[in-house]
Amino acid sequence: MKKSQKTLTLLVLLIGVAIIGFTTYQLTQTNQSASRNSGKALIGGDFTLTDQNGKTVTNKDFEGKYALIYFGYTYCPDVCPTELQVMTGALEILGDDAKKIQPIFISIDPDRDTPELMKDYVSNFFPGMVGLTGTKEQVAIAAKAYRVYYSKAVEKGADADSYSMDHSSIIYLMGPKGEFLKHFAYGTDPAKLAKGVKAATKG
Ligand code: NI
Repeated sequence: MKKSQKTLTLLVLLIGVAIIGFTTYQLTQTNQSASRNSGKALIGGDFTLTDQNGKTVTNKDFEGKYALIYFGYTYCPDVCPTELQVMTGALEILGDDAKKIQPIFISIDPDRDTPELMKDYVSNFFPGMVGLTGTKEQVAIAAKAYRVYYSKAVEKGADADSYSMDHSSIIYLMGPKGEFLKHFAYGTDPAKLAKGVKAATKG
């Protein structure tokens, strides 16, 4: 090999190593940002539902504002009304800051929760609370996006219409772009919820 050939071979090798190194670095970076993104994307996502006035709405309609979201059903004997009361209490504590937060109640009982029923039900809680329901499929998509579990619990010998629903009870705080910010477990009191929301929505 001539000296110039040796130099060329060495140069090609060096470039090769550099390319492999750079590609590996990029792949690592991509993986890191992918896991970061998926970590955020675990809760929330696209949905199409019907609001309490019978209007079709999507998740996009709620962008631009923070949202407190709770999944449940109007026939719920205790857990749902308690949690929506906690949400209402927290928003009352927040006062003026509550203006930047949209409270949303999403039904996981589409068979019984009509928009009319939702309208009547949400009027018991914080003013401006939105009540969303939809077809079985629409509700399933929304619940899946928020990782909400629900299941019909029919008692033996009971009326077909007098069942209860087992469901997760979590209040989600979403950001103005629909991104997940924080969740509050069942049993959080209004003061603690208000404090958590205030901290996460500051600025
Ligand atoms: Ni409930």
